[in-house]
Amino acid sequence: MESIIQARNINRFFKSGSERIHALKNVHVNIKAGTLTILKGRSGSGKTTLMNLLGALDRPDQGEIFFQNQDITKFAESKRDDLRRRQMGFVFQSVALIPLMSAYENVEFGLRVAGYEPQKRRARAEECLAFVGLQKRMGHRTHEMSGGEQQRVAIARAIAHRPEVIFADEPTAQLDTLMGLQVMKVFRDLVEKERLTIVMTSHDPNIIELADTIYELQDGQIMNESESGIYGG
Ligand SMILES: Nc1ncnc2c1ncn2[C@@H]1O[C@H](COP(=O)(O)OP(=O)(O)OP(=O)(O)O)[C@@H](O)[C@H]1O
Ligand SMILES: [Mg+2]
Repeated sequence: MESIIQARNINRFFKSGSERIHALKNVHVNIKAGTLTILKGRSGSGKTTLMNLLGALDRPDQGEIFFQNQDITKFAESKRDDLRRRQMGFVFQSVALIPLMSAYENVEFGLRVAGYEPQKRRARAEECLAFVGLQKRMGHRTHEMSGGEQQRVAIARAIAHRPEVIFADEPTAQLDTLMGLQVMKVFRDLVEKERLTIVMTSHDPNIIELADTIYELQDGQIMNESESGIYGG
């Protein structure tokens, strides 16, 4: 399968007081287009750091990251902003919906921020909310929805501008098992029906088995790469 993101020999250091933390050590990753990849590993192993690099939210100290064969570590900040805005979507652990807006308004607002054509916003927002199974909740505000419903609104918002890759950092961590699996069902549908590429992090074995590819991080290093679970081959 064609690769969409490649990270080569990545090193990332952080300074914390007088301490120097080697958060990623010679990391190589190959993300295939139209698949779901999960980064797993203990707290502090480097999952978020790696995802932020792949999603052009951060730059490595050493190494290269290719997105569709272009080295994005060499892009100027404005070009990286553009890349994120147009081709990537983000879902974070603690849902960042705007509280006073309805589900519909949150998704529509996201489209506005992404510069999506005004006359197509309504239909696209409704389509995405329907995709995540929330056609009956479009008018609900954040506090009128369950955690899983809110997370699905966040997914609708992340996919609405038709990105090629979704990055999701622990998207199911705050959800119970059933709601977590509902969110994963949406992710699997996006991969299978829309050919989206998804990169996410998780600790949960029930969630991890739904990946096509699993990278296991330990103390900043990739310890294991497996094609596994139900879908991997
Ligand atoms: N901005 C930062 N400044 C200093 N140290 C950092 C920074 N970000 C991350 N680190 C350190 O880098 C290491 C990796 O952190 P990271 O957030 O990637 O872990 P993680 O695998 O996502 O953990 P968790 O499962 O708890 O989210 C940790 O030791 C962390 O303390
Ligand atoms: Mg993390």
